[in-house]
Amino acid sequence: MAKTLAILTGGGDCPGLNAVIRGVVRSAIGRHGWRVIGIEDGFEGLVGTLRWRELTLDSVRGILQRGGTILGTSNRGNPFSFPVEVAGKIEQHDISDSVIQSFKSLGADVLIAVGGDGTLKIAQGLFEKGLSVVGVPKTIDNDLRATDITFGYRTAVSIVTEALDRLHSTAESHHRAMIVEVMGRDAGWIALESGIAGSADVILIPEIPYSAERLCQAIDKRRQNGSRFSIVVVAEGAFSAEGDKVLKASADNNLGVERLGGIGHKVAQQISDSLSMETRVVILGHLQRGGTPTPYDRILASRFGVKAVELIARGEYGRMVALKGRRVGDVEIATAVSQLNLVDPDGELVRTAEDLGIMVGR
Ligand code: F6P
Repeated sequence: MAKTLAILTGGGDCPGLNAVIRGVVRSAIGRHGWRVIGIEDGFEGLVGTLRWRELTLDSVRGILQRGGTILGTSNRGNPFSFPVEVAGKIEQHDISDSVIQSFKSLGADVLIAVGGDGTLKIAQGLFEKGLSVVGVPKTIDNDLRATDITFGYRTAVSIVTEALDRLHSTAESHHRAMIVEVMGRDAGWIALESGIAGSADVILIPEIPYSAERLCQAIDKRRQNGSRFSIVVVAEGAFSAEGDKVLKASADNNLGVERLGGIGHKVAQQISDSLSMETRVVILGHLQRGGTPTPYDRILASRFGVKAVELIARGEYGRMVALKGRRVGDVEIATAVSQLNLVDPDGELVRTAEDLGIMVGR
């Protein structure tokens, strides 16, 4: 029977989202002869005036190499906790029933939700209320245990690595400690892998609370050995053994999630207080999420899109596509969203960094 699939992208954007959309459209139309519509701006597109558009083979032409998402995305619009103004005060309401009604009014049979844990939790909630849902994971943070890797992550690592390569020459010329703050939330993957690839001298990650004293000793030792500069990569979620995460905004902002940022400046202060050494801080921020995806991410995202359609063809809902080893398979969304993928402080990757002479904060 002919189906209509609806696809949305939710949460922060990520290189590779367009490749997923293209994979879904090409496979749904080309292989199955189905119809695809795109919901705009994540779940927000299903609240109030519906925002959606028809996705044809033409509308996905030329988007494989484009960053961002042609559908738009949003961190807002959680139907299970939607801000509603009542008597001048904001209250959180459950409007999921009306969102499901809106969805059905579009004539769609299945929802493909592409997003991180927030989007996938909403998708799971809608599935439990009877909606046919398939999930596709995305995040540059690579922090989902259910999949070996998420698309967008390798692009972020390559952007940070290029930045580190460029920063080496200026740090060396000026004999400075260059502190590079990178994204990743509570996971240190981006910092660790780009730090190894970009030949960092110090890598600080949330999974290993760092000692400020040892950090300064390591930089000082490098100076004594003739290297008068140091490159320090610090994950935004890293914190010292005596301190706490550095936040730009606490979780009681209107997005309901903490915004991390600022640890780079704290580390720079600790270095300049303890060593008479000039420091500079580079916060790569959203550069890590922008622009064209690497070939690896284009391929992985395309495979995820095609797999999502395959799951729908088999009538398997409440499931998320995932890479396990060399195969793209699927797992329950419910299990996938509950397990974080963090760096093992005693694992092979951290040991590799240490054996390469990189100080990891301890
Ligand atoms: O989860 C992806 C991510 O880029 C994190 O690494 C970062 O902390 C956060 O999103 C930034 O979110 P926003 O785009 O809302 O500032």
